[in-house]
Amino acid sequence: MKSYIIEGGRRLIGEVNISGSKNASLPIIATTILNGDITRLYNIPQIQDTKITLDILKILGCKIRKNSGKIEINSKGITKTEIPENLMTQMRSTVILAGAILGRFKKVTFSYPGGCEIGARPIDLHLQAFRKLGIQVEENAGFIECSCDKIVASEINLDFPSVGATENIILATTLAEGTTIINNAAMEPEIIDLANCLNQMGAKIAGAGTNVIKIEGVKKLKGIGYKVMPDRIEAGTFLCATAITGGRVRVNNVMPQCIIPVIHKLQEAGCKLDVEKNYIEIIAPKRLKPLEIKTMPYPGFPTDMQQIFGAMLTVAKGTSIVVENIFENRFKYISELKRLGADVTLEGKTAIIKGKRKLIGATVKASDLRGGASLVVAGLVAKGITKVENIDYLLRGYENLNKKMNLIGANIKEVGG
Ligand code: UD1
Repeated sequence: MKSYIIEGGRRLIGEVNISGSKNASLPIIATTILNGDITRLYNIPQIQDTKITLDILKILGCKIRKNSGKIEINSKGITKTEIPENLMTQMRSTVILAGAILGRFKKVTFSYPGGCEIGARPIDLHLQAFRKLGIQVEENAGFIECSCDKIVASEINLDFPSVGATENIILATTLAEGTTIINNAAMEPEIIDLANCLNQMGAKIAGAGTNVIKIEGVKKLKGIGYKVMPDRIEAGTFLCATAITGGRVRVNNVMPQCIIPVIHKLQEAGCKLDVEKNYIEIIAPKRLKPLEIKTMPYPGFPTDMQQIFGAMLTVAKGTSIVVENIFENRFKYISELKRLGADVTLEGKTAIIKGKRKLIGATVKASDLRGGASLVVAGLVAKGITKVENIDYLLRGYENLNKKMNLIGANIKEVGG
């Protein structure tokens, strides 16, 4: 089991470059299944989640070549339509491969997906949408078998603007006959990136980024080259890491328009931000002000940033209130923060964080991706040494987190294997 050993008390100063977006890369890798052609993808982060997705594509029959920042995927020779259970259960977003495989082959078999344990995370909205598209969905002994003669374009009203379900519907219907409409669609920037990529391949998708998306089916998609957008959650993580250490960092390769609530909350906490087209420079105050935060679907405050802000606010001057509205289990990190001396009370989906002057280093355990990142952020200011165990969760979603932090003044060593 790998761990990080963090020596706290160092200010972050310098410049950091943000990698490609994990959450955009996964559906964009899935698009390559649809074109039966060669796609060149750029800016895919080298993290466990993209590796697993590419491993699945290889097993399906894709040929994959990687060289210096480029991944070339040739999906002509796909022969299988079953997603292997051992890989499927490693991460939740494997479920969107089902939409892409269905879109091209009209059948797919997969098991219930895995992923971080941050809530029930059912896939009922995905399966309801498949049924609405004329796909037969049969569930037996943990396996889900889907098939149809043709996908029937339809109007789908999502009960909740699920990111994954919106992506799955887009992937399943891009090659369908007729026009599909998604009402109450998720509006996340990663969905815009997915639609841009598919439209470059020849798809006709309008409205991505709004809550009504229209997918006019096309007969064929072609191979293209596509660069994935930068990771807005990694950018937010570095901004908060700088803020908690009282540092000054220029965060490069950012799309500031995608993290407006994060920018506003950091300003409210007393940070000075120079927001430019592709970068944000943050200058943190000596002591942060407390905040009130409520997570919401995009364009609200992102649930993925809740844990990182939660860690940051443990040392603010005053009491913060953090409400988690999206995932019921995204407070697991709180018990670990308390080991570092944080004063946090949980009441249902609300965390009441009484800021303290300092945290004290201790051994803590990551229980999910962003929860793990929040412990690293707390460790940056905790007095002495903090050991964050179970960092495999972090490696799933952050490219070289410790190396990047060390380049701007942190001291984080990776140990174990
Ligand atoms: C994606 C992101 C994740 C982010 C989340 C919300 C990826 C790979 N992951 O996850 O980082 O935190 O969006 O912004 O892009 N739900 C159902 N039934 C369903 C689907 C979802 O009840 O069929 C519920 C979930 O349990 C959760 C909420 O809806 O409570 C949001 O889920 P969803 O938007 O689907 O998130 P993901 O796509 O899993």
